[in-house]
Amino acid sequence: MIKPENQILVIFGASGDLTKRKLLPSLFELFDRDMLPERFVILGVARTPFTDGEFRQQQKENLKTFLKGGQPDEQQLERFLEKVHYLGFNSDQAEEYPVLAEKISALRQEKDIPDRLIFYLATPPQKYSTIATALQQSGLSRPGRENGWRRIIVEKPFGSNLETARKLNHELRAIFREQDIYRIDHFLGKETVQNILVLRFANQIFESLWNRNYIDSVEIYAAEKLGVENRGKYYESAGALRDMIQNHLMQLMGFVAMEAPSAFDADLMRDEVAKVFRALHPLSVNDVIRGQYITGKAGEEMVPGYREEKGVAPDSATETYIAMRFFIDNWRWGGVPFYFYTGKRLQESRSEIVIHFKNVPHRLFSGICPHSSCNELVLKVDSPESISLKFGLKIPGSFFEVKQVSMNFTYNSLCNTYIANAYERLLLDAMQGDSTLYTRTDALELSWRFIDPILKEWEKDPLKGLTFYPAGSEGPEERKWLLHCNL
Ligand SMILES: NC(=O)c1ccc[n+]([C@@H]2O[C@H](COP(=O)([O-])OP(=O)(O)OC[C@H]3O[C@@H](n4cnc5c(N)ncnc54)[C@H](OP(=O)(O)O)[C@@H]3O)[C@@H](O)[C@H]2O)c1
Repeated sequence: MIKPENQILVIFGASGDLTKRKLLPSLFELFDRDMLPERFVILGVARTPFTDGEFRQQQKENLKTFLKGGQPDEQQLERFLEKVHYLGFNSDQAEEYPVLAEKISALRQEKDIPDRLIFYLATPPQKYSTIATALQQSGLSRPGRENGWRRIIVEKPFGSNLETARKLNHELRAIFREQDIYRIDHFLGKETVQNILVLRFANQIFESLWNRNYIDSVEIYAAEKLGVENRGKYYESAGALRDMIQNHLMQLMGFVAMEAPSAFDADLMRDEVAKVFRALHPLSVNDVIRGQYITGKAGEEMVPGYREEKGVAPDSATETYIAMRFFIDNWRWGGVPFYFYTGKRLQESRSEIVIHFKNVPHRLFSGICPHSSCNELVLKVDSPESISLKFGLKIPGSFFEVKQVSMNFTYNSLCNTYIANAYERLLLDAMQGDSTLYTRTDALELSWRFIDPILKEWEKDPLKGLTFYPAGSEGPEERKWLLHCNL
């Protein structure tokens, strides 16, 4: 692998949760596998005052806690931390940006790094626009030399509805070029998600069946056992539709439903995803079931309901569960229902895509799948990632009775291959200038356009149609309506 060019990564919000749990552990993994640039600096900035030494010490403890796969080698850790610097800085104050510019310039000189900067926005989203504008005003958003460049990585949430997403896009694009804006969706960094493309477009056996003639329905799940934990305040302004559907599940669906691009190129790929989003049949509120968890038994333990969680209003109407059905109006998918299921405090954690194939035209055999098809392809997106193909076989010894069996492939059976986590992959891509797995403006706005009418309906009447489900259950019973109501 060719290493990325020498560069500086500036993380805004470096004293926060994302930096300690995801960004620095992922950067360490890349360092440990010798995939970072030869000359590379991570400059963390946030308001909390730290010296470089204090910040390194704190991150050292964090790395020991959050690195997966055992304790890191102490010397490697020290070598990595030498690349980490910190600046106490208030990103709201335009007058502080020259100090940031000076710090960057000093680091570049000291480490002999060209004028190549990535800004990673890991602050509260309300700051994104302020930071981008201040970067422009201070001259930091523009490279000074011919071989310099600027990139900006923006965390989710990217807007809270179509209007705010458009506004933010507009503001960022006035400062950075579209190809330099990396809107991160960590689902796209997962191996199994990228493998949807390989499975589909490197294998004739799947792709020839991948259409309305053979596929009965597609289900996409992102179910969690956990509740909102300590993110109640954030979740109150988001809810499951914004937090999971608009970004992660829509992107997964885009990969499942897109046409093959003519080449594996970032823009051609993203063109195809945008075409799918353009073909989405407008949603109606009746296609969306929303629920909120109430107190219930999660495993052996009684857990509080959503309205009793920290930071949540006692009369909150925020949904923690969504089941929805929708259609894609094009020749490949016309008439095939797609379903999204996502929620918190559910019986089991489940992140997967299930492709249900149609039943055979004439059933000769009895058995376990007499009324529905035996054939399913299950792509499990969360660890342990796997792919299973289900089909019917004869039960041994019986007459001709059919049983559904499964052919499984798990990623960890590729035991010699290190499986990078999503942030490792995406950070490395951004360092390399590859935006294939990042969301482009058009797809982002189209995904907001799809769910915006539902958000508006709920705003008019926040409690209308809100259902409740006990923590630890499979979700509201009403979810079953979607399967049984007329198409
Ligand atoms: N945590 C996750 O797993 C996760 C996952 C997906 C997306 N995200 C997104 O990532 C972003 C960061 O999330 P987080 O969980 O890390 O939040 P967090 O723990 O609240 O951290 C926010 C960071 O922003 C800094 N900050 C706030 N106001 C600032 C200002 N005016 N100037 C400079 N720095 C400021 C805070 O540091 P100071 O108080 O020291 O300034 C802190 O370092 C959010 O947009 C979130 O939606 C997070």
